Amino acid sequence: MTQTEDRTLSTEDTPLVPIEKIVSLCKRRGFVYPNSEIYGGVSGIYDFGPLGVELRNNIRRYWWWSMVQINDNVVGIEGAIITHPRVWEASGHVENFVDRLVECKNCKRRFRIDHLPAENLAQNKCPVCGGELTEPRTFNLMMETYLGVVEGERMKTYLRGEACQNIYLDYDNVLKSSRLQIPFGICQIGKAFRNEVTPGNFLFRQREFEQWDLQFFVHPSEMEKWFDYWKEYRFEWYKGIINHKDRLRFREHAQDELAHYAKQAFDIEYRSILGWQEWEGIHWRQDWDLSRHSEYSGQDLSYTDPETKERYIPWIVETSGGVDRTFLNLLLDAYEEEPPSGKDKEGRTVLHLHPWLAPVKVAVLPLQKNKEELVTTARDIYNRLKRLMVSQYDDVANIGRRYRRQDEIGTPFCVTVDFQTLEDSTVTVRERDGMTQIRLAIDALPAYLLERVMWR
Ligand code: GAP
Repeated sequence: MTQTEDRTLSTEDTPLVPIEKIVSLCKRRGFVYPNSEIYGGVSGIYDFGPLGVELRNNIRRYWWWSMVQINDNVVGIEGAIITHPRVWEASGHVENFVDRLVECKNCKRRFRIDHLPAENLAQNKCPVCGGELTEPRTFNLMMETYLGVVEGERMKTYLRGEACQNIYLDYDNVLKSSRLQIPFGICQIGKAFRNEVTPGNFLFRQREFEQWDLQFFVHPSEMEKWFDYWKEYRFEWYKGIINHKDRLRFREHAQDELAHYAKQAFDIEYRSILGWQEWEGIHWRQDWDLSRHSEYSGQDLSYTDPETKERYIPWIVETSGGVDRTFLNLLLDAYEEEPPSGKDKEGRTVLHLHPWLAPVKVAVLPLQKNKEELVTTARDIYNRLKRLMVSQYDDVANIGRRYRRQDEIGTPFCVTVDFQTLEDSTVTVRERDGMTQIRLAIDALPAYLLERVMWR
């Protein structure tokens, strides 16, 4: 990003970043920690540290702004993680939400059938050691839990396997308590839980993760129009927050890989060291959900058009993505180890995160720590800025090292208070990607920074 309006977006194909580099940075700088680490950890479950929670909140808020706040015909809800167990019978998850798994008799590694290369499947051969594979076994991914305390009276239910079910459950309430008419959408961000048989690749496939969903309710005759609309809208959204635009594509699902609720589906995929992988799914859910919930609950969930009086079950366009996968892909997309150059003689690790999403927006740095006037002025500026945006104050180590510390966590701007500041009340503003520096009056700082770090 330059200090003007433009973002400098690298289009050349820089090397794909190994996951281990991201895992190490995340732990070292407080983005992500293994859950229950002092007890040895739990596979597929993670906690988010001080910087991670800021990045995550920014990602969530930007999604909410783009989907709910600026679209007049879209509203948001927040549903509970636990629902009535019949929900998951109606949704088809109890019956169909399964993975088929084989195990290598030699090295004991497990593989999902749908992830095995075709030739290994045909030859019944382990893709790692060549050993013989077991017969496939089927596992349901739903996580069970129990409501109630008295043995024998406890009710078995599930932690939700996909967050979007609450939207169908609340659809009628939203309709009756608002003045919305079809076409309209309901959004939600929330946790989902899956007993993944092969969790792994850091945040990519977890057992507890967070999803964002739009369920857009339409008249059947308008399904195609809205499906195309939201498909493009979501693609552009992802394109707008990554540097490597050429690492994004659509992939249409073949008939035999469609989820049980989908008649048609496209994945928005991102290419990283893991290959081309799903980032978000755009699903043509048709009338599956509202019909099934009508049938299982006995409540009529059909819609009556206020003008034509036509009665029908609305069809649904779903856009469903992962907060955690977005978090991981953004880091993989933003991470760069820059060699020494004329601008930085030591080289640096930098996260080219979009300024809208960066966890810390500005760092305020006095040039020297032992000059009281510099420190006092820098603290004053910091105290003003921190009320407007997430800011850091840092006076430890030489200025070059402090810049590099901020580059590594993706801070888009550093403000340096030097001796000229004491004379004319101006500061240096250094921008992360191009390392360009300008001088700016202290009073002009808030507007200058806000314009660049707030989405619009
Ligand atoms: N309601 C539709 C649905 O749940 P999905 O393709 O299973 O569709 C949607 O999930 C998104 O949720 C995926 O595109 C991915 O970003 C995220 N996701 C799914 N399983 C995940 C997991 N085990 N760990 C992290 N993210 C996951």
